[in-house]
Parts: sequence; C-alpha cells; structure tokens
Amino acid sequence: MIIAIDGTTSSGKGTLAKRLAKHYGLPHLDTGLLYRAVAKAAMDAGVELKDEDACVRLAAGVRLEPFDERELRSSGVGAAASVVASLPAVRRALFELQRNFAQQEGGALLDGRDIGTVIAPHADVKLWVDAAVEERARRRFLELSGIGENVTEAGVLEQLKERDARDAARKDAPMKPADDAVWIDTTTMTPEECLARALEVVETRRR
Ligand code: DC
Repeated sequence: MIIAIDGTTSSGKGTLAKRLAKHYGLPHLDTGLLYRAVAKAAMDAGVELKDEDACVRLAAGVRLEPFDERELRSSGVGAAASVVASLPAVRRALFELQRNFAQQEGGALLDGRDIGTVIAPHADVKLWVDAAVEERARRRFLELSGIGENVTEAGVLEQLKERDARDAARKDAPMKPADDAVWIDTTTMTPEECLARALEVVETRRR
C-alpha cells in the first residue's frame, strides 16, 4: 500500500504521517527534509539559493544523515527550502529517490506537497491535510519558541502566508491537492482525532 500525504506547512501532516506509518508498519519519507537538506547544504557552502546549477549538484545524491534534524527544521532553513524547491532542476534531481522510495516492495508512506500529484500519482490513498492559516501560525509559533527561536506569532503568520503563496505559485509541481485526495481540515482537531479520521479513510479504501 502506498499512502501519499500532502498539505500546507504546520497543518499537522508531519505528525499524522509519522503516526499513520507506525500504525501500518510502513517506511516513511518526509520529503520536505530533502528540500531542507539541499537548502542547508547550499547555505553552508555559501551558494546562492537561486543558483540552479549549483543547487542541482547539491541535490544529486543528497543524504539526510550528515544533518542535525533540529537544524533542518528551523524556520530559516524552511524558508530557504521553499526557494530551492521552486527550481525545476532541483525537483527533477530529487524525483527518482522519492519515486523509488514510493515503489519499494511492501509499500511506503510519503508526505510533502506533490506526492499525490507527481511522485506517486497511483498511490492507493491520498490525503490533503490543511488548517486555517491563523491556527497553523499558532502551532508553528509554539513549536519555534519551544526550540528557542526568537519569533512572534504575527511574524510567523506572515512567513506562512508567504511560504504558502510561493509553494502554490511555482510552475513546476505546485503545492495542490490531487483530484482524488481526501481532505482533512485539522483546524479544530487534536492529533488523535486527525489520526482516527485518516485511519477511517485508509480502511474504507482498503475495503
Ligand atoms: O514540509 P516542509 O515544511 O518540511 O517543506 C519545506 C519546503 O519544501 C516547503 O516550503 C515546500 C518544499 N517541498 C516541496 O516543494 N515538495 C515536497 N514534496 C516537500 C516539500
């Protein structure tokens, strides 16, 4: 079984993806981390984020192991990831790794922005996870202040809106729900309710 989870930043898709993968014993790839790793490698090497050729070289053979996951999840790296993710050649360079992961024997679960539309259009289950932007900003603010980042909720809200706009507007594989994705709006849901809803969807598809 292949499960594709797409959605907006801080919608709860990451938490849902981890729990759902654990529930079904599926290998899980958080594809946002790949873009984050490319962005971090570019930042470390002093490479311009818009320098497509240089970023492609960094994307080819990218690995997550050398990076500290907490650092990859910082807001600075997230914003940079959104910029490198808009480079078509970088997306192409990361395509095969993701496609192979999706097609491994025994199934897989991937989460990102274009899993149901581009990476695994034949996924058995596609979920689109979203929440009101103010609620996402509140969650992200708590997360970032929790790891010691000096941010305000209003600042986070602005950044989220900017990121959503960039991710949705790019020409190549823009962030959007697949036509056959099931929507989960997590605005007023707890993570447990979100998992329960997703399990319902998966079990219905399996029957
Ligand atoms: O999910 P995230 O916040 O870790 O993703 C970081 C950035 O990477 C996000 O701004 C959009 C981009 N991304 C993408 O374009 N395609 C994916 N499949 C995953 C992430």
